[in-house]
Formats: sequence, structure tokens, C-alpha cells
Amino acid sequence: MELKNIILEKEGKIALVTINRPAALNALNTETLSEIDLVIDEIEKDSEILAVVLTGAGKSFVAGADISEMSDKNVIEGRKFGILGNKVFRKLENLEKPVIAALNGFTLGGGNELALSTDIRIASTKAKFGQPEVTLGITPGFGGTQRLARVIGVGAAKELIYTGKMINAEEAFRLGLVDKVVEPEALLDEAKALANTIANNAPIAVKLCKVAINKGLQTDIDTALSFESEVFGACFSTEDQKEGMGAFLNKQSLVGKFKNK
Ligand code: HXC
Repeated sequence: MELKNIILEKEGKIALVTINRPAALNALNTETLSEIDLVIDEIEKDSEILAVVLTGAGKSFVAGADISEMSDKNVIEGRKFGILGNKVFRKLENLEKPVIAALNGFTLGGGNELALSTDIRIASTKAKFGQPEVTLGITPGFGGTQRLARVIGVGAAKELIYTGKMINAEEAFRLGLVDKVVEPEALLDEAKALANTIANNAPIAVKLCKVAINKGLQTDIDTALSFESEVFGACFSTEDQKEGMGAFLNKQSLVGKFKNK
């Protein structure tokens, strides 16, 4: 797979995905979105990869969709670009492996929307967040009008989106936009350690947790709880459940040794 703007590295059970267009602060053009799409497919197929860390090269996570590419789009092209981003980010959100965003710097517009499509967000103290679209004459178009309010609540989301203002990592943490804030030099280690902790647990159970949480948040509580019972039951068809519980009863642990079966 020939990639120009993304670096995909495997480190044991985890994948490190780096958006690598630092000259444009990792702005998302069509090519980069298409490469993210390819990388998600690759990670999905690779049964050795059990968790993912997503970060950006240089001083930015992603400073938004590429303004130079968008500037002369017409209505049809604008819509098509929005649909492409929404398709790729939804695929990332639905990837049946946890994705941890390591937010190293500017996380703006489409960059914040990309982060919102991951499972857990860790920010460096240097990261800056915002949805500056209305300062450019557009709306957020890669899920920002939908996911931000679901994560931080309607009022806070509307304030960020209507003002286009930038906030720091501390404020993002206070709002619940990020789950943790760490010093810049600790960011990748922290994200990888979290990914490895997750990857050492029973992979099928972790996958089913992600599916149940994501699916349940989009439906009524009775349907959601019924789905939870289904996935819980399904765990008892796995070797990992048999061996994991067996190990516990023998005063041992299978953490780090699950078979993914
Ligand atoms: C294209 C971008 C870019 C972007 C930065 N660059 N952001 N290029 N699209 N989103 C480029 C700059 O043009 C510049 O290129 C280089 O990256 C370095 O940026 P500077 O502005 O010189 O850096 P700095 O002064 O540190 O300012 C950083 C910044 C600023 C505050 C992040 O770059 C900025 O405001 N960027 C735009 C942020 C934004 O509005 N994002 C939302 C986009 S709309 P040169 O060639 O001059 O060195 C969006 C919509 C999503 O995301 C939905 C679409 C459907």
C-alpha cells in the first residue's frame, strides 16, 4: 500500500497511525481522507492489531479540512467532499477495535471531527481545539454538528460552533471533549500504554463492548439493554471466556495471553 500522507506502523498488538502532512498542519485533503480510509481497511483485516493510536506529525494533530482544496468547490463538489469525510469517519467510529486519539497540537474543524470519531481522546497540554468553520463561511461538515453535541452537550457545542473560538486542552478537558491531558513528551507513551492495556484484554469482549456502547447510544434503553444481553451471551461461545474464567478460578490471569477466539 503506497501512502503519501499517512504513516502506519505496527508495534506488537497496536497500530500507530500518524497523519503526516506537517507543511499544511496535517490538513485533510481528498488524498489524505482516502488514505485514512485505506488504512482503516488494513487495520480491520489485520487480526494481530487489537487497538489503534491516532496522532499527527509536527505541531498539529489536524488543523481541519484543506482550505486550499475546498476554496473553489461548487455545491456538488462541496457536498461530495462532506460525504467522503463523513463516510471515512463513520468507518473509523465503527472499526471494531478501540481507537485512541493522541492529540498533539491543533485539533481544529475536520481535525476535531476526526478526534470525535475515536473512542478515547488524550491531549497534550499544547493542544488547541475548535470548530472554526463559521469564520470561513461554512458549517462543520465531517460530523461536527452531530457528534460534538453528543460528546459535550448541546449548549457547549453550540457555543464552540457558533463562535468558532479556540480553546486550550484544560478547557477541552473541563468540557469533556478530551478524557485526559498530559505533558507533550508523555503523550505518545500514555496513548500507547492505554492501547496496550486494552489490547491485552480479551479481544472479542473488547470489540463487543465497543459495538454495544456505540449502538446503545443511538437507540432507546430497552433495545440497548436487550442488545447488551445478546453480546454478553455471545461471549460464552468464545474460548477466551472459558479460559479467562478458568484461569481466574485457578488463581491465574489470562490478561496478555488471550487467543482472540
Ligand atoms: C490548508 C492549512 C490549514 C488548513 C493550516 N494550513 N491550516 N492549509 N487547510 N486547514 C497551512 C497554512 O496555510 C500554512 O501554509 C501552513 O499550514 C502553516 O500554517 P500557519 O497558518 O502559518 O501556522 P500558524 O500561524 O501556527 O497558525 C496555525 C493555525 C492556522 C491557527 C492552525 O493555520 C489556522 O487557522 N488554520 C486553519 C484552521 C481552520 O480554519 N480549520 C478549519 C478548516 S474547515 P503555508 O503554505 O502558508 O506555509 C474544516 C471543515 C471540515 O475543517 C468539514 C469539511 C466538509
